[in-house]
Amino acid sequence: MHLLRFTGALALSLAFIPGAGAQGLVNPANEKKIDALLAQMTIEEKVGQLNQYSSAFDVTGPAPSAGAQKVMYDQIRQGLVGSVLNVTGAEATRKMQQLAVENGRLKIPMIFGLDVIHGYRTMFPTPLGEAASWDMAAIEASARISATEAAAAGVHWTFAPMVDVAWDARWGRIMEGSGEDPYLGAQAAAARVHGFQGKDLGAVDTIAACAKHYAAYGFGEGGRDYNTVDMSEQRLRNVVLPPFKAAAEAGAATFMNAFNEIAGIPSTGNAHLQRDILKGEWGFQGFVVSDWGSIGEMVAHGYSENLEQAARQAITAGSDMDMEARAYVAHLAPLVKAGKVDVKLVDDAVRRVLRVKFALGLFDDPYRYSDAAREKQALGNPAHAAAARDVARKSIVLLKNEGGLLPLDKTAKTIAVIGPLAADKDAPLGNWRAQAVTGSAVSVLEGIQAAVPSTTRVVHAEGVKLVTGPRSFMARSVINTTDRSGIPAAVEAARSADAVVLAIGEDAFQSGEGRSQTDIGLKGLQEELLKAVLEANKRVVVVLMTGRPLTLGWTAENAPAILEAWHGGSQAGHAIADVLFGDTNPSGKLPVAFPRSVGQLPMTYAHKNTGRPGPEPGVTWSAYTDSPNEPLYPFGYGLSYTTFTYSEPKLSASEIGFGGSVQVSVTITNAGKRAGAEVAQLYVRDMVGSVTRPVRELKGFQKVDLQPGQSREVAFTLKTSDLAFYTAAGKWEAEPGAFKAFVGGNSRDVKEAAFNLK
Ligand code: BGC
Repeated sequence: MHLLRFTGALALSLAFIPGAGAQGLVNPANEKKIDALLAQMTIEEKVGQLNQYSSAFDVTGPAPSAGAQKVMYDQIRQGLVGSVLNVTGAEATRKMQQLAVENGRLKIPMIFGLDVIHGYRTMFPTPLGEAASWDMAAIEASARISATEAAAAGVHWTFAPMVDVAWDARWGRIMEGSGEDPYLGAQAAAARVHGFQGKDLGAVDTIAACAKHYAAYGFGEGGRDYNTVDMSEQRLRNVVLPPFKAAAEAGAATFMNAFNEIAGIPSTGNAHLQRDILKGEWGFQGFVVSDWGSIGEMVAHGYSENLEQAARQAITAGSDMDMEARAYVAHLAPLVKAGKVDVKLVDDAVRRVLRVKFALGLFDDPYRYSDAAREKQALGNPAHAAAARDVARKSIVLLKNEGGLLPLDKTAKTIAVIGPLAADKDAPLGNWRAQAVTGSAVSVLEGIQAAVPSTTRVVHAEGVKLVTGPRSFMARSVINTTDRSGIPAAVEAARSADAVVLAIGEDAFQSGEGRSQTDIGLKGLQEELLKAVLEANKRVVVVLMTGRPLTLGWTAENAPAILEAWHGGSQAGHAIADVLFGDTNPSGKLPVAFPRSVGQLPMTYAHKNTGRPGPEPGVTWSAYTDSPNEPLYPFGYGLSYTTFTYSEPKLSASEIGFGGSVQVSVTITNAGKRAGAEVAQLYVRDMVGSVTRPVRELKGFQKVDLQPGQSREVAFTLKTSDLAFYTAAGKWEAEPGAFKAFVGGNSRDVKEAAFNLK
């Protein structure tokens, strides 16, 4: 079955389509050079190009043993390693590259990959935080700078963007994506690919992007990492795949598959995903790397009897490069020699890998990225810090501001800065921090100190510790649940202050890979600290620093003001101070809902209506008896220091024909006293479909700057193609019938108008 499917797709994926490659990946002259190389390569050398090891310099998995390292170095010298991950720095990458090009028979350069997720040395907000900016230019700029730094340090390729849609905040990796919505996710995916790869992958400050984790990794059952996924083709196509497709269309040079299975087939061995859809339907010409060891994990999944079978299944299904499973290097050549794997499969995978190496210019100069002088200059560039601060303040979401407590007065006599994260210079760096220097972020305390005049006294108390023990990528966070010794001093500091800033939330390593949680409330003694502080002083602004949405319960009810600042990166403290004192009016909007309780998860605003949407008296409708269905703060939500009003939406026509479009326009007014920016959002509902359609789907957004009292008309154009979805007939198309358009400042508070598609 797999083989049958594959044959058709191979013909397609091998067909030479000029100009169809990702950003000129397919270049006729390079294809000829690849032909020539392939003709000279032994089967072992070919397989070598598909073999990727982690170096010992910096690891995102178990550190390779001394023995494993020796094997790696020996194999590199023999030209049997195509790529190394986790090697960084101009000098180290140069040395590593030398091993391959000075010893290998064919002198094929290696490609060096690294998880440059939200910065290389300069950290930007975690991707979920950045998505809250709804500012694609800012997101692209962040990726551009990250690429510039990484490229100068010898890195050719980032394992980003992570484009997994996620509806479940229990999943720790929700921090790495753009949240719950496929449309916003698609926009952010394209912006990041453009940022990393620039206009020309051959430029020395651009790096290859990698859309991951293909696919549906964000839908693991129960929000548990690496867990089983079982979903319909409709949900896959309509919800999960749009950001991947956007990344492919933006020219992403590579894809990474995923650890999870879908409907019983591990993604790594999934020919439907990789052959039919990615390389077939989408015409993707780059290569697919496995996730760390995921080829080998097909044995544990119960899909492969052993590593040899896993290798055969993975290459057949379209996994081109083996990250750290060592399955290809051990088994592919013998499998080809035994006639169990067609050499054409290997040739196609090698061609794809070489294509990206050519596009990066590595055959012209394998050391062009490893430039110590450029590295020094790029990593110390002050413009990068300024950009990080800009993105960080755009990412901050104002969740609550009772009685206009915010913005705070800079010239207040005393400001108390309290909480476990107040002086923390590490948590803001977040997880997946590449080469950030530990403890190098601007803390909230430092940001506030730098912002206020010398006449304002800033007092600090930690109150409680959040975590004890090691804080690192591989270690589980240990939460402090017993040490309350700092609470009295915090209460004292709060008592005499004009206002309190309480920095609480999550440590950097509480979210991220392997950090699924059944409880996403404020951990440890943080709520207890808040209660004690509130008793001493009601003027408390909670600054949340988190990777994921939390269930805020008591805090949301009792704290007068709440800012969600995410893990805001290197300049977090300055950005937070910019917002606290009103130098920046917050304009961030949630890219994912904050649920009321874990019991509501998974959830999305774009749910189906069900046959019993209610509300009804009694119990026999689709609701909880102990909670509203709605989240605490919905998708798209975020306040400002001013208020915006929306007119009723106007439509240019009440009926449109196929191929036509309708304009939805609305007048937005800044009804407050401060200048501010509002993200106006357009949603659509397709009332009846060949498969049921969500009650609302984001179809557009625009950020508008408005002076106090100013009004502006915002117009969205809805084309027939914007109404298309994956239908019961298995086609991506719009279906005629009734639609509703909704416009508003979040997914809940909207005004609507109706139209028909003929
Ligand atoms: C993660 C990937 C990452 C890879 C390499 C895996 O554990 O799932 O996202 O790119 O490691 O670090």
